[in-house]
Amino acid sequence: MTLSPSLGFTHRRSGTLRVAAVSALAVTGLLATTAGATAAAPAPTRTTAAAAAAPDIPLANVKAHLTQLSQIAAANGGNRAHGRPGYKASIDYVKAKLDAAGFTTSLQTFTASGATGYNLIADWPGGDPNKVLMSGAHLDSVSAGAGINDNGSGSAAVLEAALAVSRAQLKPDKHLRFGWWGAEELGLLGSKAYVNSLPSTERTKFAGYLNFDMIGSPNPGYFVYDDDPTIEKTFKDYYAGLGIPTEIETEGDGRSDHAPFKNVGIPVGGLFSGADYRKTAAQAQKWGGTSGVAFDRCYHSSCDSLTNINDTALDRNSDAIAYALWTLSAGGTTPPGGTDYENTTPVAIPDAGAAVTSSIAVTGRTGNAPAALKVSVNITHTYRGDLVLDLVAPDGTAYRLKNSSSDSADNIVATYTVNASSEAANGTWKLRVQDVAAQDTGTLNSWKLTF
Ligand code: TRP
Ligand code: CA
Ligand code: ZN
Repeated sequence: MTLSPSLGFTHRRSGTLRVAAVSALAVTGLLATTAGATAAAPAPTRTTAAAAAAPDIPLANVKAHLTQLSQIAAANGGNRAHGRPGYKASIDYVKAKLDAAGFTTSLQTFTASGATGYNLIADWPGGDPNKVLMSGAHLDSVSAGAGINDNGSGSAAVLEAALAVSRAQLKPDKHLRFGWWGAEELGLLGSKAYVNSLPSTERTKFAGYLNFDMIGSPNPGYFVYDDDPTIEKTFKDYYAGLGIPTEIETEGDGRSDHAPFKNVGIPVGGLFSGADYRKTAAQAQKWGGTSGVAFDRCYHSSCDSLTNINDTALDRNSDAIAYALWTLSAGGTTPPGGTDYENTTPVAIPDAGAAVTSSIAVTGRTGNAPAALKVSVNITHTYRGDLVLDLVAPDGTAYRLKNSSSDSADNIVATYTVNASSEAANGTWKLRVQDVAAQDTGTLNSWKLTF
């Protein structure tokens, strides 16, 4: 089943491309002192309308929603469970925020275990009604506690992402819809009721459903759902731009509200920071935290309170939601991979000599470069491991793409991802290449920036 075309993107795979996540090593001021040849900057090879940059979601706002959910639980017997007053109070809180921000909201009711359940649906006016991009989170807790990580975290982050859409007055190509589900903890009952209520003609209008359940776990992992490839790639690109490794979510596919959507053929994806599985030593190595301890020791317990949140994970995942919303909703006019700017003038690389640079002029863009700026490099080189590569932003900030010892190939045909979100997009970008050891020759054949 190929799901990605309904999102209007093609997912490109190539065996010859290596994608390396590169953390932003900001080394300012190097450009001014760099000696060496500089190739002219040709015009961009292709320009298209580009999506506006996604906003940074303020962590404080997400946490303020969690504080409210915590107080709602405290005032209602300590939980926000299906059929209890704390659940309906949670729904009322989220709905009031969305109504005030210009969303069209509706409550869907269903009956479960002898009690009325509620789903909250919020539509952002505009966009193509035949391409609905929905994001959702379950708002109910278990009865044992306040459910701040499970799933106040996803609920608050989706709410704040929706409010960011309103603040930006976003005019997406797709229609944006948001959902907060009831009775997830009783077996995905709210999301099942919603999907079952959709006539089959409505189901076909979904470009995708993004699910966020437990995204602020106190001993966090960074898991991306391995479902629709376009959605998965979007989240992975975001994390690659931060230089943070991700893993595929394996703690139980079908254990959250994306499952009913997936079961009727809607492309799904999402993020997860871990529940009751334990972090391995290898995972602690790459993400920090404590190995041998559950990602969330308070999973489904009374201690799933305000202190049961890792702020860094919650902040990153909230920003990733905004990135995905902005990126995926703007599809249709943007070709896969975005806009390319390329320099195809070859530059010789002297043996153990000065650095050479090749320039690309970027014009006609607004705002900053993306969090996942792609730098594709094509270099012919006759010896191993001697090249140092930097991307130099218009303001002179250098991003190290490759160290001399980090590559075993003679020829480099690679795409690096750089978080350049603090750099103005327009201006002259340079690729700086230096051969640092004797006895070889090389040529920078071409390179390309993809915004
Ligand atoms: N609320 C989910 C549950 O109780 C948490 C969960 C477990 C989960 N595994 C998951 C959420 C995998 C998303 C993906 O089952
Ligand atoms: Ca943020
Ligand atoms: Zn749960």
